[in-house]
Amino acid sequence: MPRVHVLPHPELCPDGLDIQARRGASLCESLLASGIALEHACEMVGACATCHVHVRAGGAGLPPPDDEESDQLDHAWGLDAQSRLACCVKLRDADLTVELPLHTRNHARER
Ligand code: FES
Repeated sequence: MPRVHVLPHPELCPDGLDIQARRGASLCESLLASGIALEHACEMVGACATCHVHVRAGGAGLPPPDDEESDQLDHAWGLDAQSRLACCVKLRDADLTVELPLHTRNHARER
């Protein structure tokens, strides 16, 4: 079972969290099931970019974003080379380290 290490986020996860996730589950589902209130405005169909996260480690063990995910990522705040939409990432065996952005497409989450 993959583990997801979530780096501390001032509002959503102040102390960070280690999650034992289920292979095949989406990263977004796994974060929500662990009590992290990640935004998911389109109900996890890959159409809003509010579930944007940065996969800081382990991303090489994931399939790359498809065209639809890449198109939505263009609208994400703070996009970088490790950006993914959490609802589009299906967990495999690789452990991941995930950073939650301070802002989302919906509203600002500032310190
Ligand atoms: S919840 Fe909308 S793109 Fe992931």
